[in-house]
Amino acid sequence: MAQVEGYKNGRINIILHENTQQPGKELRVKKQRHSPLEMIDKEFASFVGLEELKTSIKEIYASILINEKRKEQGLKSSKQVLHMLFKGNPGTGKTTVARKLAKLYHDMNVLSKGQFIEAERADLVGEYIGQTAQKTRAVIQKAMGGILFIDEAYSLSRGGEKDFGKEAIDLLVKHMEDGREDMVLILAGYPREMDRFLSMNPGLESRFPFILDFDDYSVDELLNIGNRMLGERQYQLSKSAEWKLRNHLARKLREETFNFSNARYVRNIIEKAIRMQAVRLLTSEQIISKDLIVLTEEDLLLE
Ligand SMILES: Nc1ncnc2c1ncn2[C@@H]1O[C@H](COP(=O)(O)OP(=O)(O)OP(=O)(O)O)[C@@H](O)[C@H]1O
Ligand SMILES: [Mg+2]
Repeated sequence: MAQVEGYKNGRINIILHENTQQPGKELRVKKQRHSPLEMIDKEFASFVGLEELKTSIKEIYASILINEKRKEQGLKSSKQVLHMLFKGNPGTGKTTVARKLAKLYHDMNVLSKGQFIEAERADLVGEYIGQTAQKTRAVIQKAMGGILFIDEAYSLSRGGEKDFGKEAIDLLVKHMEDGREDMVLILAGYPREMDRFLSMNPGLESRFPFILDFDDYSVDELLNIGNRMLGERQYQLSKSAEWKLRNHLARKLREETFNFSNARYVRNIIEKAIRMQAVRLLTSEQIISKDLIVLTEEDLLLE
């Protein structure tokens, strides 16, 4: 019998009691140490927050591993259904995470190829009878062995009952039902629109065992994301620049600007600041190596 002792510090301990054939015989205990959960931590190390997601991925991986052990022991094993719904505002990391999952699932042997296929309404929905089936099947075919990511999934039900989008949804659901296939479907979109879409397509939500909410980031998280983006490029903010950015982000969040694009907003500010620094340095008389790294207050153009 396999028993999970629990995971600590990113390690999972599995104890196998190999006495299934000979009851009464003293248990031979084999202890294995596993580091794949560390691999998950490593893959997601560059992401700020997203704790719920990291926990889900670890659970998925633990179940896959235990299922394999159960199979080895002649016990019943079940195949994991991994289709997911991602709900989150612009720039909260939905596309980036889905892309990362394709790689991770491939490394974990969950997906045979691990390609990431992003599709939108126009890739799936046709304009005349028969075209939608053809288009949707072609996209599914391309995504076999990998992840099919459909952003703004609600655009599929834009035209109501008579629209061909409905046919695309039905085909995707039918494909998911088959279950044997080696493909993970992720539908993503903004929370309110996704909820409306799901309520208009009864039975759809229940086919997705993983529903993840990508929350808006706090000021601290946005700053942290910004600092990491800069660190990766070997730049850093001066103390006063960081202060200026912090105040600006706090104001933005307070004002609840419509369509605030979270981490993407920070990325854009940073990329702009890097260009501004370059212009400033070109026109300055003397440059020391620290100047090449530090972005100052005046490089940050904030509106
Ligand atoms: N938690 C995070 N940590 C670090 N960087 C992040 C995080 N979330 C998002 N980003 C960065 O923010 C940018 C936008 O993320 P992404 O495109 O994945 O958002 P999205 O949710 O798909 O947005 P949209 O709904 O507009 O398509 C990317 O450059 C990504 O690397
Ligand atoms: Mg996206």
